[in-house]
Amino acid sequence: MKQGQMSQRTRMVDFLVKGDERGALTVLENATDSVPFAIKRVYYIWGTQPGVVRGKHGHYKLCQLLVSVCGSCDIALDDGFEKKLVRLDSPSRGVLIDGPIWHEMLNFSPDCVLLVLASDVYNEADYIRDYDRFLEEVH
Ligand code: TYD
Repeated sequence: MKQGQMSQRTRMVDFLVKGDERGALTVLENATDSVPFAIKRVYYIWGTQPGVVRGKHGHYKLCQLLVSVCGSCDIALDDGFEKKLVRLDSPSRGVLIDGPIWHEMLNFSPDCVLLVLASDVYNEADYIRDYDRFLEEVH
């Protein structure tokens, strides 16, 4: 059986926090350890209703960094071989998803604001929205 790509295509990223007596500040910049791509799009998800599961797709090429800048949520990751669940509950930590990983966002707290930095503009042709199609792609 072919090996999965979970460890190559996903990783948690701890951001540098510049804190002083006034509070905290985190910077996310292009082509750094935290953001290893050029940011072409930023979007954020908030006001998610209880019990809602979002995402449920993979991308052929897109690289994304997801950060819960307020509140918390879980990100379910699946490389077609292995599944893992990561918790985003801090503005100082994110998860990087690079390439074909089936992902779902769930267990949103009512105050969650999920910020996503993406390596490309929105392109429906880069989406794999059917799970069986995703499995064909990665196997
Ligand atoms: P959708 O892919 O369903 O969001 P999620 O993956 O979080 O469940 O996107 C919701 C709608 O927003 C859908 O009509 C596509 C649109 N959309 C854009 O127009 N641009 C974007 O960058 C994104 C992420 C979504």
